[in-house]
Amino acid sequence: MAKKQERLPLSRSKEFVLSENTRFVITEAYKTARTNLIFSLAPCKNKIAVVTSCSPAEGKSTNCLNLAITMAQMGASVLIIDADMRKPVLHALLDLENKTGLSTVLGGITDDVAKVIKPKVRPSLDVLTSGPIPPNPAELLSSKKMQLLLELVGKHYEYVFIDTPPVTVVSDAFLMNKNTAGMIFVIKENHTNHGAINDALERIKMTEGKVLGFLKTNCGSQSRRGFKNYGYKYNYNYKYKYEYHSNSNNG
Ligand SMILES: Nc1ncnc2c1ncn2[C@@H]1O[C@H](COP(=O)(O)OP(=O)(O)OP(=O)(O)O)[C@@H](O)[C@H]1O
Ligand SMILES: [Mg+2]
Repeated sequence: MAKKQERLPLSRSKEFVLSENTRFVITEAYKTARTNLIFSLAPCKNKIAVVTSCSPAEGKSTNCLNLAITMAQMGASVLIIDADMRKPVLHALLDLENKTGLSTVLGGITDDVAKVIKPKVRPSLDVLTSGPIPPNPAELLSSKKMQLLLELVGKHYEYVFIDTPPVTVVSDAFLMNKNTAGMIFVIKENHTNHGAINDALERIKMTEGKVLGFLKTNCGSQSRRGFKNYGYKYNYNYKYKYEYHSNSNNG
């Protein structure tokens, strides 16, 4: 089992969201991740990427948001969906109201998704927040309405990023396998263990899901002098144990 992670207060968590104050080395790492992601999405049926990880608090939501921001910075139209209807945080990280969102659309409470999506939260970036926490997230995510929503946003936006709960805790992320391009798997250095990764990959395979790539966070988190230094690395094709490898048969 992975170590239990401390959660920071919201004000500290917001500091990890990309902004004009973010250090150059971090924005560059996300740009590298963006380039690799564009390559791995190129042959896919749509450009919808599900962001997940093995366990809680490994950085899924923060990285889902930062990847979406980095993609939108190119001028591409991007939507981010908070499909973690158990522990939603994207609205809080972005200071958005959350009375309506994915849960109210899927629950039939709000019928016009265009009115629920928050436009231009950042340049080129629209956001569909989670909405109020529903009692049946898995049922909503596996509904026909969710399938239709993904078809709609897949046509309308150039890229869609979906934040989800951890795959070894609940199976929500797998419920979108059929209608999305694949998963971006977040791995936290010195935290996520190999056993958990193997279990998760086995479950992805069993549910006919696909891994688009791995995003390794917290790279080199402990320098020799003990200072924390956050880095990001993105690789694709997990057969090659997290070393960069171009996968041309990724379709
Ligand atoms: N680069 C970073 N450096 C240090 N802490 C970070 C970093 N990115 C995120 N965190 C912190 O780690 C915690 C978990 O982050 P986040 O909410 O993104 O993870 P998560 O995997 O989505 O969690 P959950 O499983 O609850 O959905 C938060 O307290 C966040 O502030
Ligand atoms: Mg999260």
